[in-house]
Amino acid sequence: MGLLDGKKILVTGVLTDASIAFHVARLAQEEGAQVVLTSFGRQFRLTQAIARRLPQEAPVVQLDVTDDEDLAALADRVREHVDSLDGVVHSIGFAPQSVMGGNFLSGEWADVSTALEVSAFSLKSLAVAAKPLLSSGGSIVGLTFDASFAWPVYDWMGVAKAAFESTSRYLARDLGADGIRSNLVSAGPIRTTAAKSIPGFASMEDGWPERAPLGWDQTDPEPTARAVAALLSDWFPATTGEIVHVDGGVHAMGL
Ligand SMILES: NC(=O)c1ccc[n+]([C@@H]2O[C@H](COP(=O)([O-])OP(=O)(O)OC[C@H]3O[C@@H](n4cnc5c(N)ncnc54)[C@H](O)[C@@H]3O)[C@@H](O)[C@H]2O)c1
Repeated sequence: MGLLDGKKILVTGVLTDASIAFHVARLAQEEGAQVVLTSFGRQFRLTQAIARRLPQEAPVVQLDVTDDEDLAALADRVREHVDSLDGVVHSIGFAPQSVMGGNFLSGEWADVSTALEVSAFSLKSLAVAAKPLLSSGGSIVGLTFDASFAWPVYDWMGVAKAAFESTSRYLARDLGADGIRSNLVSAGPIRTTAAKSIPGFASMEDGWPERAPLGWDQTDPEPTARAVAALLSDWFPATTGEIVHVDGGVHAMGL
């Protein structure tokens, strides 16, 4: 019996087969779930091609998390494939390069606001858009990079992650009465498209494997995907507003 047997899961953020979301979708299917993906714009065809590399090809529905029409249409688009959802995975992040890579002090609001809208507010937007399909026992899971610290080069994306983490706690507060959980996985550095688009990303991953008591492999998204699958499952029934670190233990160490 699989961890997610019979569950229906919406997975955002599959761009390549290196995407954390791709591995979440793969594991979810391997554990018995039915998966629907989202993508948007020029990336849509790429996501469709990558969807064919999953154990079972998954349908892809249009969703730009900043587009009100897409958000309003999401539930109906998902209903073309499944009648309800048990889980929603937020695996979305974007910030213009002008507000990362050591450009904290020169960051301008127009670009900062894009980072905040796509990377933080979108968790609320996605949760509200998917809510008509969710019921008691439902689980929303997102991906963060520990926002308790100022990291080298992460800059306004780090601020967006702090807002994202807070947004998850407020969702936990407001969706708890409906039996819906909101939790995050705080992953260590993994070499994906989003990570490589951060100028100087190497300075964030430098030394991580040495600092991690369990070690850390930046090319392996599997431990992170497993934690997402666990939070989607029925095995965290009383956990919400939580952040589970999947970073080899770095968050718990002093220098
Ligand atoms: N890679 C890492 O080191 C790392 C570490 C911790 C957390 N994370 C987080 O994991 C999540 C997934 O990133 P990833 O590393 O797998 O990279 P990725 O580039 O594979 O995924 C990012 C996704 O965001 C999507 N996206 C961007 N703008 C969007 C929009 N307007 N609407 C809908 N989707 C949009 C892209 O299509 C892409 O699929 C992000 O939230 C990221 O911050 C990544």
